[in-house]
Amino acid sequence: MRELILAIESSCDDSCVAIMDKRSFKPVFERKISQEKEHFKFGGVVPELAARLHTKALLDILELTKPYFSKLCAVSVTSEPGLSVSLVSGITMAKTLALSLNLPLIAVNHLAGHFYSLFLEQEACFDMGVLLVSGGHTLCFKLDEKGAVSVLAQSLDDSFGESFDKVAKMMSLGYPGGVVVENLALKAVQKNVHFSLPMLHSKEPDFSFSGLKNAVRLEILKHERLDEGLKSEIAYAFEECATAHLLNKLEKIFSTQRFKKFGVVGGASANLKLRAKLEALCKKYECELLLAPLKYCSDNALMIARAACAMYDKGVFVDIKDDILSPKNRHFERIY
Ligand code: KG4
Ligand code: ZN
Repeated sequence: MRELILAIESSCDDSCVAIMDKRSFKPVFERKISQEKEHFKFGGVVPELAARLHTKALLDILELTKPYFSKLCAVSVTSEPGLSVSLVSGITMAKTLALSLNLPLIAVNHLAGHFYSLFLEQEACFDMGVLLVSGGHTLCFKLDEKGAVSVLAQSLDDSFGESFDKVAKMMSLGYPGGVVVENLALKAVQKNVHFSLPMLHSKEPDFSFSGLKNAVRLEILKHERLDEGLKSEIAYAFEECATAHLLNKLEKIFSTQRFKKFGVVGGASANLKLRAKLEALCKKYECELLLAPLKYCSDNALMIARAACAMYDKGVFVDIKDDILSPKNRHFERIY
């Protein structure tokens, strides 16, 4: 019986492949080769380098999946959004695999994939609010019971995760910045640095992180030398302000929308301070908070496989000759 779906995720700097049983949603195979070390010295992802590394890493992993080929019923791949050169590496491999094994191809939106990271260990449901915080996005949307997406708020400039990366770069802490800045903030003893909340007086629920990033830059410039104590103080003040800003805007949304459930996904949803603040918010509004297991917050192929299982059931396939990255395919209107 052909019951397995293979998924490839290569939207940024992680080369990931997973295989999932389409009936039980049990993972059968999972591997990730991270490129963090290679991009570290540049303080961010270098697209050319990422694409080159994907072509080797994905093949290395796909080689290990050969024993499952005869049991596959479909191949799925992250279609967008992401770095186009990185996406193309994964899409080309997925198309080649689908062509040679004569299997249907499923193109999974990366954001829909993150949504399904909530349901790798529990039954999926719709009709809820969702916050997606990653390196590429800061987006709050409502999902109706049929999976239609309505965007409620998004970042007008940098994303939440990206602001951590940029603050880390300014303090020469390397890439990615999320975990480094979070850990550094925990070490802060002095707490005398403060940044003002972005867009405090705007009635709109949208987010903005570039002003805060600039405030951090100006704070750094005030000092001739940054010692560890000062770095952690700045990291603490930044994290405090970035999470408070998110919460301030979400509170605006919660006061007008009545969510029974609220899911938080994306690489930056691993941030523990953010998680604690969201728990308090959901408690206040009597809403159930859904969080992905920490290991599945960042990019992974299992979430893509889980989304693909839902699409397989609904018969949502793409033609192998389709230009998956063409602008006409770039929409995030629904989750299947
Ligand atoms: O979802 P993801 O793996 O990739 C994208 O789709 O962008 O998210 C990666 C982003 C990076 O910007 C990283 O710095 C951020 O998530 N991140 C965090 C934390 N862990 C990862 N940001 C804040 N706190 C964290 N603990
Ligand atoms: Zn992502």
